[in-house]
Amino acid sequence: MRHYLMVRPAHFDVEYSINPWMDPGKPTDTRLAITQWEGLRELYLGLGHRVDLLDPAPGLPDMVYAANGATVVNGRALVARFHHRHRRPESAAYLKWFTEHGYRDVRQARWANEGEGDFLVTGSRILAGSGFRTDRRAHDEAAEFFGVPVVGLTLTDPRYYHLDTALTVLDDERIMYFPEAFTEESRRRLEKLYPDAVIASAADAAAFGLNAVSDGRHVILPQAATGLIARLRERGFDPIGADLSELLKGGGSVKCCTLELRPAPGKTGQAP
Ligand code: ARG
Repeated sequence: MRHYLMVRPAHFDVEYSINPWMDPGKPTDTRLAITQWEGLRELYLGLGHRVDLLDPAPGLPDMVYAANGATVVNGRALVARFHHRHRRPESAAYLKWFTEHGYRDVRQARWANEGEGDFLVTGSRILAGSGFRTDRRAHDEAAEFFGVPVVGLTLTDPRYYHLDTALTVLDDERIMYFPEAFTEESRRRLEKLYPDAVIASAADAAAFGLNAVSDGRHVILPQAATGLIARLRERGFDPIGADLSELLKGGGSVKCCTLELRPAPGKTGQAP
């Protein structure tokens, strides 16, 4: 069982543009966003996972992207420090939530980092993105706070501004990613660490297919990423397509809406 934190998109809208997917001139349908989001939440519940909710706040239209609020490993929560001023007030809501839910090791990061947008946790290490949002100094800060080695990766394509738009952790050893979103050096690093990775096509990456959540067996990803769905099936995973088209207007999908709460050893399924 996995434990997730989500934020209902009650105030979802595209009011500003901080990534190339966001066009404030395009209409959004908050009700449809809520329906699609409910579908994702029900999928998790149907798979036996636990989903906790953090209250959305008016005036913070990006709050639905809960993955950005923090990184939680071993019951310790490192709360985000957002790069763009529009999202900075979200951090207080996460600090409050973790404190009220029994987490004792809670700290807001000193350096800009957008939680699991740029920190992807695997069995033995944290893969950490930078280039658009997260400050490189935040990588060392996370390594120190969690006591886990961090592998830095640099993003180059503004459409893939967070690591979780270009790479998915499938289980403790396996990942899938879109090489073109990274610098040469980062690509080489990934090839060396994960020679058997599933490689995404440009079309699947553009469908946000890498913005996926895996529980080690089921992989929930945007349904339009048909190539990845086939590849994952070949590798023995159970891919499940989800429709979050409304939330894609803000530049996010399945993973962006899902913050994983990893408990301390021996505390499976309980907070913290
Ligand atoms: N509009 C949000 C932003 O640009 C989308 C965040 C998507 N979240 C993610 N984990 N990639 O900050």
